[in-house]
Amino acid sequence: MAAIKKLSIKQLKLKGKKVFLRLDLNVPLSENGAITDQTRILAALPTIKYIIDQGGHLIISSHLGRPAGKVQPNLSLKPVAHALSSHLGKEVPLAPHYSLGEKVLQMVNSLQKGDVLLLENLRFYKGETQNDPEFAQALAAFGDVYVNDAFGVSHRAHASVCGITQFIKPCAAGFLMGKEIEHLSRLISKPARPFIALLGGAKVSDKLGIIENLMEKFDALLIGGGMAYTFLMAKGFEVGRSIVEKDKLDTTSSIIKSTDIRGIKLELTEDHVIARELKDAAQTTVVNTSDIPEDWLALDIGPRTIELFIKEIMNAKTILWNGPMGVFEIEAFRAGTEAVGRAVAESGAVSVVCGGDTAAAVNSLGLAHKMTHISTGGGAALEFLEGEELPGIAALDDA
Ligand code: 3PG
Repeated sequence: MAAIKKLSIKQLKLKGKKVFLRLDLNVPLSENGAITDQTRILAALPTIKYIIDQGGHLIISSHLGRPAGKVQPNLSLKPVAHALSSHLGKEVPLAPHYSLGEKVLQMVNSLQKGDVLLLENLRFYKGETQNDPEFAQALAAFGDVYVNDAFGVSHRAHASVCGITQFIKPCAAGFLMGKEIEHLSRLISKPARPFIALLGGAKVSDKLGIIENLMEKFDALLIGGGMAYTFLMAKGFEVGRSIVEKDKLDTTSSIIKSTDIRGIKLELTEDHVIARELKDAAQTTVVNTSDIPEDWLALDIGPRTIELFIKEIMNAKTILWNGPMGVFEIEAFRAGTEAVGRAVAESGAVSVVCGGDTAAAVNSLGLAHKMTHISTGGGAALEFLEGEELPGIAALDDA
């Protein structure tokens, strides 16, 4: 992949300009509408504050959830407007959803230097996900310049991410976007060796693209979590009722062969914390790979695997971590993720964490500040590391 060099917000003159800023403020909400994780809001603050400090008139836009072109009050960005107001110490009004025309235009035009306006959930409008040119043009009319800091949605060719760039110039990357591109690109282009991938999580299908794209760069692949069981079944083991994606057995077999041929170390879970049921008070025991009983499920890596993985982690210079080692949310199955998380934090290696569950695990362990980079993108980070060109990045002006 050629180096990605995009126009940066740093290169723009923002004073007195209407700045249309696309963010990914798609934050998790509790049933009563409270934000349960502010990571994406916090990650956007440097760009927001910079625009305010430079004297821009700031118009922020984002999606929330997947309302499929209909107004869904439970997916209003109202809680996000409150959160932004409290982080910025100034009121951030939320524009009404019922029209993106005159009313909102008036609000935009009455903004003063340093003022901030948040548009309502863009996916309340069908035109957003359809990348409808008319909708994109209506959005573009709100700004003099366009800044995209929404890395997490840059794999979607949507109106506020792509289409809009046809109708407004210049189009620049915000600070978060720049950081994401820099850290993820480094993994692909010049990782310090040994470079290891620590992969877990339930679904092997999510990770196959990364493994295939970066195979030649990795010195070792450490595979735990639910995805290990498709690999183990591909090697001929019985895995009881553990999670397996049978339609991926062929691909995993060929990955196993490729690692062999290329001399890449492939470490799979060697011992397993198993239970009959996935619940907190479940009776658990630890067994070797060849001893997983028919009616039990493997739910975490065992102590020998932890030791093995920690040894590789401590020897690594670059670590890509995507996916927990077990069912981290349940106390009985979190020891593996906790132990490897602490090792990654202490390793001194360049550590890049991807995926919502892994980021949540790192946050809940209080280890976030010890990681080199925690990506705010789920699907976007995966596609980037798979070597895909992300439409939201490609659409920005070149530096
Ligand atoms: C995410 O949460 O990964 C991004 O905000 C993209 O959301 P989407 O998968 O609904 O497009």
